[in-house]
Amino acid sequence: MLKRRNAAVVVAGLGLALSLTACGSDDGEGGGEGNDSTGEGKIGVILPDTESSVRWESADRPALEAAFEEAGVEYAIDNAEGDAERMTQIADSMIGDGVTVLAIVNLDSESGAAIQEKAASAGVATIDYDRLTLGGSAEYYVSFDNTVVGELQGQGLADCLGDKPSNIVYLNGSPTDNNATLFAAGAHSVLDGMDNITVVGEQAVPDWDNEEAATIFQQLYTAADGKVDGVLAANDGLGGAAIGILEGNGLAGEVPVTGQDATVEGLQNILAGTQCMTVYKSATQEAGALAEAAIALVNGEDAETTGTVEDTEGGRDVPAILLEPQSITKENVNDVIEDGGQTVEDVCAGDFAKLCADAGIS
Ligand code: BGC
Repeated sequence: MLKRRNAAVVVAGLGLALSLTACGSDDGEGGGEGNDSTGEGKIGVILPDTESSVRWESADRPALEAAFEEAGVEYAIDNAEGDAERMTQIADSMIGDGVTVLAIVNLDSESGAAIQEKAASAGVATIDYDRLTLGGSAEYYVSFDNTVVGELQGQGLADCLGDKPSNIVYLNGSPTDNNATLFAAGAHSVLDGMDNITVVGEQAVPDWDNEEAATIFQQLYTAADGKVDGVLAANDGLGGAAIGILEGNGLAGEVPVTGQDATVEGLQNILAGTQCMTVYKSATQEAGALAEAAIALVNGEDAETTGTVEDTEGGRDVPAILLEPQSITKENVNDVIEDGGQTVEDVCAGDFAKLCADAGIS
């Protein structure tokens, strides 16, 4: 069985895996030689897109490859490119190819649930990776505690604003993503009780589309007569869109903006002072947890869970492995780099070399 102590090896393997990363499908020949615990299984993973966050291809794919290689299990990873029909087709072909476990990051609960139903009738076990499929039938849910992610964002924004009276705008994630609901709920649970904070606009961004986010933020900003003191953006891409509009109004750096995913762009914005915080969710940890759960399913064993999460639509408690997210500000950008979440070369490229040096990152 894949043990926790393998995490260090997985991290070490990440550099190599990163350099081999490419878009598109990807078959691993793991085979399980010399590893008597993996059996005959093959694990299929379908990532959602390449646009809603760079994380899926730049962090998750290499971390998943490293985790499966380390476990010596056969795998296939593909990306639905934001198209639910395409995800269904990929799932069909993975099931046809004989995967024993199928993990998806759904694009919406309805299409995700349909994929899981089909898989189940073909005898294929399923796992929800990162996003819970409401009304689905996954055996396990592997993610971070997404309510805590929202709480960290709310607290991060409150800390950046201080005690002064502040008008804030929420730029929430996709309405089809259950995580987005949890992020917003977590942030509200922290900010709603603060007397100095007034919400002057709140909107969800369909499909987490960064371009649409800029348009939406511009509208919210105009509707508030430009009286916006802080932005609760649900991830780094949406935050970047808001920062772009603020820049056009000479306000970048004046108005704190939150984020999530600790992307290169997000960390650079933090170093430049235009973003107040991000939330780091180690892809190595999440991919490792997925690999463990998948291998347990392959072997007909129970995976170690941290509890259950409620599927409010299906009315069931889904066995879950929820990991702990970490708040990142200028003070601890280095934590992400030390953990292998990003590299100095990427974050400190070009003009950012000086900002990195100032922040003690080298
Ligand atoms: C993930 C975030 C990601 C967003 C957009 C969410 O479900 O948890 O990490 O930024 O989707 O892809």
